[in-house]
Amino acid sequence: TKQKEPELPLFFGWFLLPEEEERIKCATMDFLKTLDTLEAFKEHISEFTGEVAKEVDLEQYFQNPLQLHCTTKFCDYGKAEGAKEYAELQVVKESLATSYELSVTALIVTPRTFGARVALTETQLKLWPEGADKEGVAPALLPSVEALPAGSRAHVTLGCSAGVEEVQTGLDLLEILALQKEGKEGTQVEMDLGTLTYLSEGRWFLTLREPITADTTFTSFSD
Ligand code: A2P
Repeated sequence: TKQKEPELPLFFGWFLLPEEEERIKCATMDFLKTLDTLEAFKEHISEFTGEVAKEVDLEQYFQNPLQLHCTTKFCDYGKAEGAKEYAELQVVKESLATSYELSVTALIVTPRTFGARVALTETQLKLWPEGADKEGVAPALLPSVEALPAGSRAHVTLGCSAGVEEVQTGLDLLEILALQKEGKEGTQVEMDLGTLTYLSEGRWFLTLREPITADTTFTSFSD
């Protein structure tokens, strides 16, 4: 008899524990509430609303994802390249259902996405698939992305604007990191949480003064 292949999940990742999720959601929502009242933000509001002199309620603008997590490998039930190889890695199998503390070092806001940048440790990087940073990246951005350290794309999607898919958060983050590296920073604003930087076309980056840590479990997810 033929042995049935084990099924591959939609994706693997670190999932925030429920109480952590609440804490992070509260802290990041507070940031959004403050952001849309800042004069610096209002000057560029048309990049969010398409019209000048209109207000935007960022808390309404972004829809919350269901379960906060940091994706390591998007497998698409085996349709994604390298899915099977990833699932079979010893380090992946050994790490399933174990605890990890993630460190959030920055927040990003763009007209498309709201996300948290995750700084991976050496141990956590072992679960970061090779080449994951550049997957689906536009050719024009590839050279800049290849120059960034591995794991630069690691993030937690906190919200997407209407019609935008979650995968966009990682791409927005990479774009911001590339612009930063080129020294393309614009206006800077000091906030309680850290330094807010504007990077053109509605892109905002908040470097946290103190990283926000979150307890997670590494696991696979299938819809
Ligand atoms: P992210 O990790 O940026 O939040 P979906 O619900 O669209 O199928 O996606 C499930 C999860 O996998 C989401 O968390 C999403 O984005 C991530 N994801 C979706 N597509 C990709 C992709 N092509 N590459 C990397 N991650 C993806």
